[in-house]
Amino acid sequence: MSSPIRRIAINTGGGDAPGLNAVIRAVVIAAINRGWECYGIRDGFGGILSPERYPDGGMTLLTLDRVRGIAHLGGTIIGTSNKGNPLRFPVQQPDGTVKEVDRSDELLAFFARQGLDALVSVGGDGSLTIANALHQKGLRVVGVPKTIDNDLDKTFTTFGFDTAVSFATECLDRLHSTAESHQRVMVVEVMGRYAGWIALHAGIAGGAHSILIPEIPFDLDKVIAKVNWRDARGRMYSIVVVAEGARPADGQRAIIAPAEAGQTERLGGIGEHVAKAIQERTGKDVRLVVLGHLLRGGSPTSFDRLAALRFGAAAVRALEKGCSGVMVALAFPNVVYVALEEVAGRMKGVPLDSDTLQTARDLGISFGD
Ligand code: F6P
Repeated sequence: MSSPIRRIAINTGGGDAPGLNAVIRAVVIAAINRGWECYGIRDGFGGILSPERYPDGGMTLLTLDRVRGIAHLGGTIIGTSNKGNPLRFPVQQPDGTVKEVDRSDELLAFFARQGLDALVSVGGDGSLTIANALHQKGLRVVGVPKTIDNDLDKTFTTFGFDTAVSFATECLDRLHSTAESHQRVMVVEVMGRYAGWIALHAGIAGGAHSILIPEIPFDLDKVIAKVNWRDARGRMYSIVVVAEGARPADGQRAIIAPAEAGQTERLGGIGEHVAKAIQERTGKDVRLVVLGHLLRGGSPTSFDRLAALRFGAAAVRALEKGCSGVMVALAFPNVVYVALEEVAGRMKGVPLDSDTLQTARDLGISFGD
Protein backbone atom coordinates (compact mmCIF):
# COMPACT_ATOMS: atom_id res chain seq x y z
CA MET A 1 0.00 0.00 0.00
CA SER A 2 1.57 3.33 -1.04
CA SER A 3 1.74 6.20 1.45
CA PRO A 4 -0.90 8.95 1.18
CA ILE A 5 -0.11 11.89 -1.05
CA ARG A 6 0.26 15.39 0.34
CA ARG A 7 2.43 17.17 -2.18
CA ILE A 8 3.01 16.58 -5.90
CA ALA A 9 5.04 18.18 -8.66
CA ILE A 10 4.24 18.69 -12.33
CA ASN A 11 6.62 19.37 -15.19
CA THR A 12 6.26 19.95 -18.92
CA GLY A 13 9.07 18.67 -21.13
CA GLY A 14 10.11 18.79 -24.81
CA GLY A 15 8.59 21.15 -27.34
CA ASP A 16 5.54 23.06 -26.15
CA ALA A 17 2.12 22.12 -27.51
CA PRO A 18 -1.28 23.82 -27.24
CA GLY A 19 -3.08 22.28 -24.26
CA LEU A 20 -0.19 22.19 -21.76
CA ASN A 21 -1.78 24.91 -19.65
CA ALA A 22 -5.10 23.06 -19.64
CA VAL A 23 -3.34 19.96 -18.23
CA ILE A 24 -1.66 22.08 -15.56
CA ARG A 25 -4.99 23.66 -14.60
CA ALA A 26 -6.75 20.29 -14.30
CA VAL A 27 -3.92 18.72 -12.28
CA VAL A 28 -3.71 21.66 -9.89
CA ILE A 29 -7.45 21.95 -9.26
CA ALA A 30 -7.94 18.18 -8.89
CA ALA A 31 -4.95 18.02 -6.51
CA ILE A 32 -6.09 20.97 -4.38
CA ASN A 33 -9.59 19.46 -4.20
CA ARG A 34 -7.97 16.42 -2.57
CA GLY A 35 -6.10 18.56 -0.07
CA TRP A 36 -2.74 18.17 -1.86
CA GLU A 37 -0.22 20.87 -2.75
CA CYS A 38 1.05 21.09 -6.33
CA TYR A 39 4.39 22.55 -7.41
CA GLY A 40 5.46 23.30 -10.96
CA ILE A 41 9.06 22.48 -11.85
CA ARG A 42 10.36 25.17 -14.15
CA ASP A 43 11.59 24.41 -17.67
CA GLY A 44 11.40 20.62 -17.70
CA PHE A 45 13.75 19.61 -14.90
CA GLY A 46 15.74 22.87 -15.14
CA GLY A 47 14.31 24.20 -11.87
CA ILE A 48 15.88 21.27 -10.02
CA LEU A 49 19.03 20.50 -12.02
CA SER A 50 20.14 24.08 -12.78
CA PRO A 51 19.01 26.02 -9.67
CA GLU A 52 21.56 28.78 -10.34
CA ARG A 53 19.39 29.88 -13.29
CA TYR A 54 16.43 30.53 -10.98
CA PRO A 55 17.26 33.10 -8.28
CA ASP A 56 13.54 33.28 -7.41
CA GLY A 57 13.24 29.49 -7.12
CA GLY A 58 13.17 26.58 -9.56
CA MET A 59 9.78 25.41 -8.21
CA THR A 60 6.55 27.38 -8.33
CA LEU A 61 3.67 26.74 -5.93
CA LEU A 62 0.65 26.40 -8.20
CA THR A 63 -2.37 27.91 -6.50
CA LEU A 64 -5.94 28.20 -7.76
CA ASP A 65 -5.18 31.83 -8.57
CA ARG A 66 -2.14 30.84 -10.60
CA VAL A 67 -4.15 28.51 -12.87
CA ARG A 68 -7.20 30.72 -13.28
CA GLY A 69 -8.06 31.49 -16.93
CA ILE A 70 -5.17 29.57 -18.51
CA ALA A 71 -6.88 26.59 -20.21
CA HIS A 72 -7.18 28.42 -23.52
CA LEU A 73 -3.62 29.77 -23.59
CA GLY A 74 -0.84 28.30 -25.73
CA GLY A 75 2.58 27.54 -24.24
CA THR A 76 3.15 26.51 -20.63
CA ILE A 77 3.16 28.76 -17.58
CA ILE A 78 5.96 26.70 -15.97
CA GLY A 79 8.20 26.63 -19.05
CA THR A 80 9.61 23.67 -20.92
CA SER A 81 12.90 22.51 -22.35
CA ASN A 82 14.16 19.89 -24.76
CA LYS A 83 17.75 20.22 -23.55
CA GLY A 84 18.12 19.06 -19.94
CA ASN A 85 17.49 15.28 -20.08
CA PRO A 86 18.43 14.19 -16.50
CA LEU A 87 19.54 10.77 -17.77
CA ARG A 88 21.88 12.33 -20.32
CA PHE A 89 22.56 15.76 -18.85
CA PRO A 90 25.14 17.73 -20.86
CA VAL A 91 28.07 18.75 -18.63
CA GLN A 92 30.95 20.81 -19.98
CA GLN A 93 34.34 19.20 -19.26
CA PRO A 94 37.54 21.15 -18.36
CA ASP A 95 38.86 20.52 -21.92
CA GLY A 96 35.74 22.21 -23.40
CA THR A 97 34.08 19.00 -24.62
CA VAL A 98 30.57 18.13 -23.45
CA LYS A 99 29.85 14.81 -21.71
CA GLU A 100 26.40 13.33 -20.97
CA VAL A 101 25.94 12.49 -17.27
CA ASP A 102 23.10 10.61 -15.51
CA ARG A 103 21.74 12.99 -12.85
CA SER A 104 18.53 11.09 -12.08
CA ASP A 105 19.67 10.20 -8.52
CA GLU A 106 19.91 13.93 -7.76
CA LEU A 107 16.29 14.31 -8.87
CA LEU A 108 15.10 11.53 -6.59
CA ALA A 109 17.06 12.99 -3.67
CA PHE A 110 15.47 16.38 -4.35
CA PHE A 111 11.96 14.89 -4.30
CA ALA A 112 12.68 13.15 -0.97
CA ARG A 113 14.17 16.33 0.58
CA GLN A 114 11.22 18.48 -0.49
CA GLY A 115 8.60 15.95 0.65
CA LEU A 116 7.29 15.61 -2.91
CA ASP A 117 5.31 12.38 -3.11
CA ALA A 118 4.78 12.09 -6.84
CA LEU A 119 5.39 13.61 -10.26
CA VAL A 120 2.98 14.27 -13.13
CA SER A 121 5.20 14.40 -16.19
CA VAL A 122 3.68 15.93 -19.31
CA GLY A 123 5.62 15.30 -22.47
CA GLY A 124 6.38 13.40 -25.62
CA ASP A 125 8.49 10.34 -26.23
CA GLY A 126 11.66 11.78 -24.67
CA SER A 127 9.93 13.03 -21.51
CA LEU A 128 7.95 9.83 -21.03
CA THR A 129 11.09 7.72 -21.43
CA ILE A 130 12.62 9.81 -18.62
CA ALA A 131 9.41 9.41 -16.59
CA ASN A 132 9.60 5.63 -17.00
CA ALA A 133 13.24 5.58 -15.85
CA LEU A 134 12.36 7.65 -12.76
CA HIS A 135 9.45 5.31 -11.99
CA GLN A 136 11.80 2.33 -12.24
CA LYS A 137 14.08 4.03 -9.74
CA GLY A 138 11.22 4.28 -7.24
CA LEU A 139 9.58 7.66 -7.91
CA ARG A 140 5.78 7.72 -8.18
CA VAL A 141 5.14 9.02 -11.68
CA VAL A 142 2.16 9.39 -13.99
CA GLY A 143 2.74 10.51 -17.58
CA VAL A 144 0.51 12.64 -19.81
CA PRO A 145 1.00 12.35 -23.60
CA LYS A 146 1.74 15.62 -25.36
CA THR A 147 3.01 16.44 -28.82
CA ILE A 148 1.80 18.16 -31.94
CA ASP A 149 3.46 15.31 -33.87
CA ASN A 150 0.97 12.63 -32.64
CA ASP A 151 3.79 10.07 -32.77
CA LEU A 152 3.22 8.46 -29.35
CA ASP A 153 2.12 4.85 -29.22
CA LYS A 154 -0.76 3.45 -27.12
CA THR A 155 -2.93 6.54 -27.29
CA PHE A 156 -5.49 7.36 -29.97
CA THR A 157 -4.07 10.87 -30.07
CA THR A 158 -1.93 13.32 -28.16
CA PHE A 159 -3.18 16.79 -27.28
CA GLY A 160 -1.68 19.52 -29.45
CA PHE A 161 -2.08 17.51 -32.64
CA ASP A 162 -5.61 18.67 -33.45
CA THR A 163 -4.62 22.33 -33.00
CA ALA A 164 -1.59 21.90 -35.28
CA VAL A 165 -3.69 20.14 -37.95
CA SER A 166 -6.44 22.76 -37.75
CA PHE A 167 -3.99 25.61 -38.21
CA ALA A 168 -2.12 23.88 -41.06
CA THR A 169 -5.48 23.19 -42.76
CA GLU A 170 -6.47 26.84 -42.51
CA CYS A 171 -3.12 27.80 -44.06
CA LEU A 172 -3.69 25.38 -46.94
CA ASP A 173 -7.20 26.79 -47.47
CA ARG A 174 -5.67 30.25 -47.79
CA LEU A 175 -2.94 29.11 -50.15
CA HIS A 176 -5.33 27.62 -52.71
CA SER A 177 -6.63 30.97 -53.95
CA THR A 178 -3.23 32.62 -54.31
CA ALA A 179 -1.74 29.49 -55.94
CA GLU A 180 -4.60 29.34 -58.44
CA SER A 181 -4.56 33.07 -59.17
CA HIS A 182 -0.85 32.92 -60.07
CA GLN A 183 -0.86 29.40 -61.53
CA ARG A 184 1.86 28.50 -59.07
CA VAL A 185 2.98 25.45 -57.15
CA MET A 186 2.92 26.05 -53.40
CA VAL A 187 5.14 23.72 -51.38
CA VAL A 188 4.17 23.71 -47.70
CA GLU A 189 6.59 22.18 -45.17
CA VAL A 190 5.09 21.10 -41.85
CA MET A 191 6.60 19.73 -38.65
CA GLY A 192 6.06 16.21 -37.34
CA ARG A 193 9.57 14.78 -36.86
CA TYR A 194 9.77 11.21 -38.15
CA ALA A 195 5.98 10.81 -38.51
CA GLY A 196 3.69 12.14 -41.22
CA TRP A 197 0.54 12.65 -39.15
CA ILE A 198 0.32 16.43 -39.44
CA ALA A 199 1.11 16.41 -43.17
CA LEU A 200 -1.38 13.63 -43.87
CA HIS A 201 -4.31 14.96 -41.87
CA ALA A 202 -3.89 18.62 -42.85
CA GLY A 203 -3.06 17.67 -46.44
CA ILE A 204 -6.28 15.71 -46.87
CA ALA A 205 -8.45 18.23 -45.01
CA GLY A 206 -6.84 21.16 -46.88
CA GLY A 207 -7.15 19.63 -50.35
CA ALA A 208 -3.44 19.10 -51.13
CA HIS A 209 -2.60 17.40 -54.42
CA SER A 210 0.55 15.67 -53.16
CA ILE A 211 1.55 14.75 -49.60
CA LEU A 212 5.08 13.60 -48.82
CA ILE A 213 5.54 11.77 -45.52
CA PRO A 214 8.44 9.94 -43.85
CA GLU A 215 6.57 6.62 -43.95
CA ILE A 216 6.54 6.66 -47.78
CA PRO A 217 9.89 7.65 -49.33
CA PHE A 218 9.08 9.71 -52.42
CA ASP A 219 10.25 9.80 -56.00
CA LEU A 220 10.61 13.39 -57.29
CA ASP A 221 9.68 12.24 -60.82
CA LYS A 222 6.28 11.18 -59.48
CA VAL A 223 5.76 14.46 -57.62
CA ILE A 224 6.60 16.40 -60.78
CA ALA A 225 4.42 14.09 -62.90
CA LYS A 226 1.45 14.98 -60.67
CA VAL A 227 2.03 18.71 -61.22
CA ASN A 228 2.30 18.16 -64.99
CA TRP A 229 -0.78 15.90 -64.97
CA ARG A 230 -2.84 18.70 -63.41
CA ASP A 231 -1.44 21.31 -65.82
CA ALA A 232 -2.35 19.11 -68.78
CA ARG A 233 -5.96 19.12 -67.57
CA GLY A 234 -6.06 22.88 -67.17
CA ARG A 235 -5.59 22.85 -63.39
CA MET A 236 -2.61 25.11 -63.51
CA TYR A 237 -1.73 25.16 -59.84
CA SER A 238 -0.74 22.55 -57.27
CA ILE A 239 -0.37 22.30 -53.51
CA VAL A 240 2.35 19.97 -52.23
CA VAL A 241 2.52 19.30 -48.48
CA VAL A 242 5.88 18.01 -47.27
CA ALA A 243 6.49 16.63 -43.76
CA GLU A 244 9.83 17.80 -42.38
CA GLY A 245 10.92 14.16 -41.96
CA ALA A 246 10.04 13.11 -45.54
CA ARG A 247 12.90 11.89 -47.70
CA PRO A 248 13.45 10.91 -51.30
CA ALA A 249 13.67 7.15 -51.92
CA ASP A 250 17.21 7.68 -53.19
CA GLY A 251 18.29 10.30 -50.63
CA GLN A 252 18.58 11.42 -47.05
CA ARG A 253 16.40 13.30 -44.60
CA ALA A 254 17.07 17.05 -44.51
CA ILE A 255 18.69 18.13 -41.26
CA ILE A 256 19.23 21.69 -40.01
CA ALA A 257 21.48 20.69 -37.11
CA PRO A 258 22.87 17.30 -36.05
CA ALA A 259 22.23 15.84 -32.58
CA GLU A 260 24.28 17.42 -29.83
CA ALA A 261 24.88 16.24 -26.24
CA GLY A 262 21.48 16.03 -24.50
CA GLN A 263 19.60 17.10 -27.64
CA THR A 264 18.13 15.45 -30.72
CA GLU A 265 18.83 16.43 -34.31
CA ARG A 266 16.77 19.24 -35.84
CA LEU A 267 14.91 18.46 -39.04
CA GLY A 268 14.03 20.91 -41.79
CA GLY A 269 14.86 21.92 -45.35
CA ILE A 270 13.20 19.16 -47.38
CA GLY A 271 10.52 21.62 -48.56
CA GLU A 272 13.20 23.81 -50.13
CA HIS A 273 14.73 20.82 -51.88
CA VAL A 274 11.34 19.76 -53.30
CA ALA A 275 10.39 23.33 -54.29
CA LYS A 276 13.68 23.86 -56.13
CA ALA A 277 13.38 20.58 -58.02
CA ILE A 278 9.79 21.33 -59.12
CA GLN A 279 10.75 24.83 -60.28
CA GLU A 280 13.80 23.62 -62.22
CA ARG A 281 12.04 20.71 -63.86
CA THR A 282 8.63 22.20 -64.69
CA GLY A 283 9.61 25.82 -65.31
CA LYS A 284 6.63 26.80 -63.18
CA ASP A 285 6.63 29.49 -60.56
CA VAL A 286 7.06 27.77 -57.18
CA ARG A 287 6.79 29.25 -53.70
CA LEU A 288 7.76 27.63 -50.41
CA VAL A 289 5.91 28.15 -47.11
CA VAL A 290 7.46 26.66 -43.97
CA LEU A 291 4.86 26.58 -41.20
CA GLY A 292 7.42 25.52 -38.55
CA HIS A 293 6.78 26.72 -35.01
CA LEU A 294 3.53 28.46 -36.00
CA LEU A 295 2.04 24.96 -35.60
CA ARG A 296 2.98 24.97 -31.92
CA GLY A 297 1.39 28.29 -31.02
CA GLY A 298 -2.05 29.65 -30.38
CA SER A 299 -5.05 28.58 -28.43
CA PRO A 300 -5.79 24.82 -28.25
CA THR A 301 -8.85 23.67 -30.19
CA SER A 302 -11.77 22.58 -28.03
CA PHE A 303 -10.82 18.95 -28.80
CA ASP A 304 -7.26 19.45 -27.49
CA ARG A 305 -8.44 21.54 -24.55
CA LEU A 306 -10.92 18.90 -23.45
CA ALA A 307 -8.41 16.06 -23.98
CA ALA A 308 -5.81 17.97 -21.94
CA LEU A 309 -8.25 18.70 -19.09
CA ARG A 310 -9.39 15.05 -19.07
CA PHE A 311 -5.77 13.82 -19.10
CA GLY A 312 -4.79 16.11 -16.22
CA ALA A 313 -7.71 15.08 -14.02
CA ALA A 314 -7.16 11.40 -14.89
CA ALA A 315 -3.48 11.69 -13.89
CA VAL A 316 -4.49 12.90 -10.42
CA ARG A 317 -7.06 10.09 -10.10
CA ALA A 318 -4.33 7.58 -11.01
CA LEU A 319 -2.05 8.92 -8.27
CA GLU A 320 -4.91 8.84 -5.77
CA LYS A 321 -5.46 5.16 -6.61
CA GLY A 322 -1.79 4.46 -5.89
CA CYS A 323 -0.77 3.98 -9.55
CA SER A 324 2.73 4.71 -10.78
CA GLY A 325 4.55 4.05 -14.04
CA VAL A 326 1.45 4.63 -16.13
CA MET A 327 0.51 7.10 -18.84
CA VAL A 328 -3.01 8.38 -19.29
CA ALA A 329 -4.17 7.67 -22.83
CA LEU A 330 -7.14 8.12 -25.08
CA ALA A 331 -8.78 4.85 -26.15
CA PHE A 332 -11.45 6.82 -27.94
CA PRO A 333 -13.87 7.79 -26.44
CA ASN A 334 -12.48 6.76 -23.03
CA VAL A 335 -9.43 7.84 -21.06
CA VAL A 336 -7.45 4.77 -19.95
CA TYR A 337 -4.07 4.00 -18.35
CA VAL A 338 -1.22 2.21 -20.11
CA ALA A 339 2.17 1.18 -18.76
CA LEU A 340 4.87 3.77 -19.41
CA GLU A 341 7.26 1.03 -20.44
CA GLU A 342 4.93 0.18 -23.32
CA VAL A 343 5.23 3.73 -24.59
CA ALA A 344 8.83 4.69 -23.82
CA GLY A 345 11.08 4.68 -26.87
CA ARG A 346 8.32 3.59 -29.27
CA MET A 347 7.32 5.81 -32.12
CA LYS A 348 3.92 5.62 -33.81
CA GLY A 349 4.13 6.42 -37.50
CA VAL A 350 1.23 6.50 -39.95
CA PRO A 351 0.25 2.86 -40.65
CA LEU A 352 0.48 2.20 -44.36
CA ASP A 353 -2.83 0.31 -44.26
CA SER A 354 -4.72 3.07 -42.42
CA ASP A 355 -8.04 4.11 -43.90
CA THR A 356 -6.94 7.75 -43.71
CA LEU A 357 -4.07 7.03 -46.04
CA GLN A 358 -6.35 4.99 -48.25
CA THR A 359 -8.82 7.89 -48.28
CA ALA A 360 -6.10 10.16 -49.62
CA ARG A 361 -5.31 7.71 -52.40
CA ASP A 362 -9.03 7.37 -53.22
CA LEU A 363 -9.20 11.16 -53.52
CA GLY A 364 -6.36 11.08 -56.07
CA ILE A 365 -3.75 12.58 -53.74
CA SER A 366 -0.22 11.50 -54.67
CA PHE A 367 2.36 10.34 -52.11
CA GLY A 368 5.10 10.51 -54.69
CA ASP A 369 5.34 6.71 -54.82
O1 F6P B 1 8.15 17.57 -31.39
C1 F6P B 1 7.58 18.80 -31.71
C2 F6P B 1 8.42 19.53 -32.72
O2 F6P B 1 7.77 20.75 -33.02
C3 F6P B 1 8.72 18.75 -33.99
O3 F6P B 1 7.64 18.70 -34.88
C4 F6P B 1 9.93 19.48 -34.51
O4 F6P B 1 10.75 18.66 -35.30
C5 F6P B 1 10.64 19.88 -33.24
O5 F6P B 1 9.69 19.84 -32.18
C6 F6P B 1 11.26 21.26 -33.29
O6 F6P B 1 11.95 21.47 -32.12
P1 F6P B 1 12.58 22.85 -31.70
O7 F6P B 1 11.53 23.61 -30.94
O8 F6P B 1 13.74 22.47 -30.84
O9 F6P B 1 12.99 23.57 -32.94
